[in-house]
Amino acid sequence: MRIDIITVLPEMLEGFVNQSILLRAQNKGLAEIHIHNLRDYTLDKHKRVDDYPYGGFAGMVMQCQPIDDCISALMAQRHYDEVIFTSPDGEIFDQPMANTLSLCENIIILCGHYKGVDYRIREHLITKEISIGDYVLTGGEIAAAAIADAVVRLIPGVIGDEQSALSDSFQDGLLAAPIYTRPADYKGWKVPEILLSGNEAKIKDWELSQSLERTKRLRPNLLSTDANNE
Ligand code: ADE
Repeated sequence: MRIDIITVLPEMLEGFVNQSILLRAQNKGLAEIHIHNLRDYTLDKHKRVDDYPYGGFAGMVMQCQPIDDCISALMAQRHYDEVIFTSPDGEIFDQPMANTLSLCENIIILCGHYKGVDYRIREHLITKEISIGDYVLTGGEIAAAAIADAVVRLIPGVIGDEQSALSDSFQDGLLAAPIYTRPADYKGWKVPEILLSGNEAKIKDWELSQSLERTKRLRPNLLSTDANNE
């Protein structure tokens, strides 16, 4: 899978995509992540990529030309399944969306900034708008990083034990059960007896009942009919 991220803050993302799971995925040849500095595409001699909004509104707006030229240059090289724009007014990012995106061959993520992007870009080039939650970030870079991370770790082979991505919280619509490691007794804080019993069937039952109990208590919305029908 190939992810092209377009940003005015490439330094902010470079460190992130060259660490940990994302680095491992790239080293294994399972993912390619390319970061493009939007300023490299502007025709403005001062390297500006934004301008004042028509209508006298406050703030600055990302202009069409550099974004169009960058996306067009990428699209001339390969087909993209999605051209994503990170924005607080997008569809809320969740595990099912990450699963769907992980099946894509190539995606572009355009990081929003300033007051937003000229609406014509959203009308003509963007195929999907994604928000990572109902709050406003200064820019879309953190959202792009979250999307890239959640999606790339789902590509088969990226995480050593594939089971571990499948047993994440949310994969079956439930929160994960509590998990423990050695020692079994730390300062009197004990690991549940059942996990030390070696009885696999009973442990599986315990895991499911814990998942259900935690989901009911912490995220009851995940158990509602609406969430299950989505
Ligand atoms: N840009 C600013 N806020 C955002 C959010 N909540 N999600 C995605 N992109 C954003």
